[in-house]
Amino acid sequence: MKKIGITDTSLRDGHQSLWATRMTTDDMLPILEKIDDVGYHSLEVWGGATFDVCMRYLHEDPWERLRTIRKNIKKTRLQMLLRGQSIVGYTHYPDDIVYRFVDQAAENGIDIFRAFDALNDIRNLETSLKAIKKTGKHAQACVVYTVSPVHTMEHFVNTALRLKDMGADSICIKDMAGLLQPYVSYELVKALKEAVELPIQLHTHYIGGLAVVSCVKAAEAGVDVIDTASVPMAFGSSQPPVETIVRALQGADYDTGLDLHALFDIADHFEQIRKQKGFERGVTRISDMKVFEHQVPGGMISNLVSQLEEQKASDRLPEVLNEIPRVRKDLGYPPLVTPTSQIISVQAVLNVLSGERYKLSPGEVKDYVRGLYGNPPAPIDAEVQNKIIGDEEVITVRPADLLEPGWEKAKKEMAEISDKEEDILSYALFPQVALKFFAYRQEQQDENLPQILPADTLGGEAAKQKEIIRQSLPKVRKKPVSRGDEEMNIDELRELLLLFDQTGIAEMEIQKDSFKISLRKTAGSKTISSETPVPENKAEAAYDYAKMVEVLSPMVGTFYAAPSPDAPPYARVGERVKKGQTLCIVEAMKLMNEVKAECDGTIVEIAVENAEPIEYNQLLFLIEKD
Ligand code: CO
Repeated sequence: MKKIGITDTSLRDGHQSLWATRMTTDDMLPILEKIDDVGYHSLEVWGGATFDVCMRYLHEDPWERLRTIRKNIKKTRLQMLLRGQSIVGYTHYPDDIVYRFVDQAAENGIDIFRAFDALNDIRNLETSLKAIKKTGKHAQACVVYTVSPVHTMEHFVNTALRLKDMGADSICIKDMAGLLQPYVSYELVKALKEAVELPIQLHTHYIGGLAVVSCVKAAEAGVDVIDTASVPMAFGSSQPPVETIVRALQGADYDTGLDLHALFDIADHFEQIRKQKGFERGVTRISDMKVFEHQVPGGMISNLVSQLEEQKASDRLPEVLNEIPRVRKDLGYPPLVTPTSQIISVQAVLNVLSGERYKLSPGEVKDYVRGLYGNPPAPIDAEVQNKIIGDEEVITVRPADLLEPGWEKAKKEMAEISDKEEDILSYALFPQVALKFFAYRQEQQDENLPQILPADTLGGEAAKQKEIIRQSLPKVRKKPVSRGDEEMNIDELRELLLLFDQTGIAEMEIQKDSFKISLRKTAGSKTISSETPVPENKAEAAYDYAKMVEVLSPMVGTFYAAPSPDAPPYARVGERVKKGQTLCIVEAMKLMNEVKAECDGTIVEIAVENAEPIEYNQLLFLIEKD
């Protein structure tokens, strides 16, 4: 009898595929001990989208989550998904960042690193594998499975053999779109077992309905470990349920040794979370059963649906799903997995919504065509390439060889915020998101300003005013933050400062274009002063509307005035711009889309704030045409 190991993905891929990665650490905590007792081969709990989502949406520190899980999972190996040179992001990072990240992940509790490259371009795994080996942890390398004329059995076996040469301790078949059919699964596992002689793990998605049978066939072919999720997070675009796989393999020559009663106890907990938070169940729709045509992986379909909803274009989903395989063919049959799944599907969305194929291409698509993500499995269609990047040259070296080291720069930029290695890494990976998160975290840690006053220094009236101030604080603090400074509506700020002034806490000086505030010594020993520019009074501007051109947001997303927090903005009021010049970035569907000027002219108004969420067709700029 062969014992088959089971990896539980509930805390990473499970909720990433079905619940938009929105499970919080608090949701996980009560059940960790029970999960630890099951006897899983490993638990996939970190990496992939969890890192980004923790900071961006859950206001959690991803490193803190890992430490918390590690503290509560004492026996079972913890596993993470590493996107090779893209780490847990969507673009390639310099080698020094990869080394530091892997090091810290190992330090904070990861035992098994599963690394993949979206294009199976093994050059993109060189550094991560070296970095993992350096920590002494288990390096699992992926063969990304997809279907295309160039993805033959030979291609997969050769990729695996080269990964073994590079130090992989085991090989994972990563079938992110659930395309693996049972008999292909058998053949592939068998071929890999024979040729590669390393432990083989199968990671597949249920979506089209074949996963359970494919896992059973993989078991017959000698697979060593299978990925599953707890049933409330299984089926649909997620993994097959552990409960079904355990039962399916019981009594055969293969067994998992896992106790179904314990598994159902765990399922009860997650089902409760699911109901409480209104999370979706994994279902297979008809469009999902067509996965063999469009190949869009699980997580991506739900993203696509919600992005199209935001663009008020849900009815275009079938068109987009038809366009995806065409774009994929044009761009050399990349497997659809992060980040290529985003690259292909955003291009497909833009092709459909803009009414002209390749009229608009986000920066990431251009970079892909430039070779900055690696070699596409097949050549890119020449005509399409020309439409996207003109006659620009395509690189042939390993993409990360072109990147400057990033650590010292990130460390310097973070000097005033944090010197913790984990924080610097969070910043190096997601500068804008991390800064917002740090500002939020700081805010949580700081006592509200009035609280630094000893209570007895305030009389009755002052205490009342203090309460008013405190009540007004959360309202002000909801505003977007940048680099740790609060941006406030000018009237709110004025109101707040008047209160400070009246209570004798602060002295305020209002100048023509700035405020100067200094807190009096009564506020402990803390003296704070800050100058806040007063925005220009828009009402005073008189426009010649006949000459005005409105630049509207092409999509729902987040507005960024500059390429990075420290860089100068693309455009300023009063500045002359040329047709085709970049005005700003709209981040949508995790991609940065440059918005360009459609005419020569002068910027007379910027209608949104940096890092502000924006709607489809919202006014971004007013340009006075030449
Ligand atoms: Co997956």
